[in-house]
Amino acid sequence: METEIIKPNKTALVKAAEIIKGGGTVAFPTETVYGLGADALNAEAVKKIFEAKGRPSDNPLIVHIADEKQLLSVVKVLPALAAYLIDRFMPGPLTLVLEKAESIPDEVTAGLKTVAVRIPAHPAAVALIRAAGTPIAAPSANASGSPSPTKASHVYDDLNGKIAYILDGGDCSIGLESTIIDFSVGKPRLLRMGGIPLDELTGLSDGVEGEIEALGTESAGRPLAPGMKYRHYAPKARVYLFEYGDTQGVELLCSLLCGEGKRVALILNSQSYVAQSGTQSGIFKIIANETTNEFVIRAALMNDAEDYARRLFYELRETDRKNADAVICEKAVDAGIGRSVNNRLEKAADKL
Ligand code: TXA
Ligand code: MG
Repeated sequence: METEIIKPNKTALVKAAEIIKGGGTVAFPTETVYGLGADALNAEAVKKIFEAKGRPSDNPLIVHIADEKQLLSVVKVLPALAAYLIDRFMPGPLTLVLEKAESIPDEVTAGLKTVAVRIPAHPAAVALIRAAGTPIAAPSANASGSPSPTKASHVYDDLNGKIAYILDGGDCSIGLESTIIDFSVGKPRLLRMGGIPLDELTGLSDGVEGEIEALGTESAGRPLAPGMKYRHYAPKARVYLFEYGDTQGVELLCSLLCGEGKRVALILNSQSYVAQSGTQSGIFKIIANETTNEFVIRAALMNDAEDYARRLFYELRETDRKNADAVICEKAVDAGIGRSVNNRLEKAADKL
């Protein structure tokens, strides 16, 4: 199968919607990451998503809708607090798990009685759902296990030949997947950190705050989203993590690895390294082009936590393209979306 990449103009959207209506799959941009979509009401179409990605069938999909009016076609009941979060954060990088309507096939929810729902903010995603006239089930459009795609070319690299059509809406503006909250069992529970920072969700009510605080650490014994148990975001290189500001640790490990002849990629915070100017920091000198080191094959500097979120998956993919042996990452500041960045970094380092 030829995989076509096309800008989401009117003609492309009409064609993509026809593919969805005809039971096929289309990759499309959202503000978080690219998704691989199929008609959420068509079990056979949904199976093609699992095939293309090599995704385990016990890992349910998120159903994407265009607006609140479509909600009651996919969920049975809407708790008041869920309705409030929808008003406040949707369209946006938030997904709610709710009791599913009969119309949603088991293939979408992996047999669960609940369905994950989100209203994306990207205009091409909303236009596609509207044109297709059906809710669209879509996981991230990467091959299972690799970092989520934040550019159309990432989808192409992973799924070329396996899907017909990629709508190229440019770089994703958030770069991390949506935050997921489960409303299906009593008090709401956080299942996945993501694009809406926890700080923005806490304090909404005592109930939400209590639960979300407890789950922010993803404490053992709590049920998480089924997909979170799989290895994720893992580049081929070994990932080493350092706390924000631990430039000494980064420096030492970098020189040890380079001394062994390892090809090292660095993902660091610009603030930490600006402060190293005028010191003996070898890494600062490489960044400032004052010196070179043949073993440091890439050094990415993140300007702040939002920038880190936007570029993290791209950088992890680059480490593979450049055949790095090791990636040394300095964590983001542990606040706001930085907490979600650090969650993904820990998964990439196989710590969660
Ligand atoms: O930002 C996003 O959420 C992106 C874009 C494309 O919308 N989608 C995404 O989908 O990240 P995916 O499939 O890569 O991750 C969805 C996560 C998985 O961990 C899955 O197990 C969980 O959501 N999930 C889906 N349905 C669920 C349900 N009914 N109950 C609990 N977890 C669920
Ligand atoms: Mg995914």
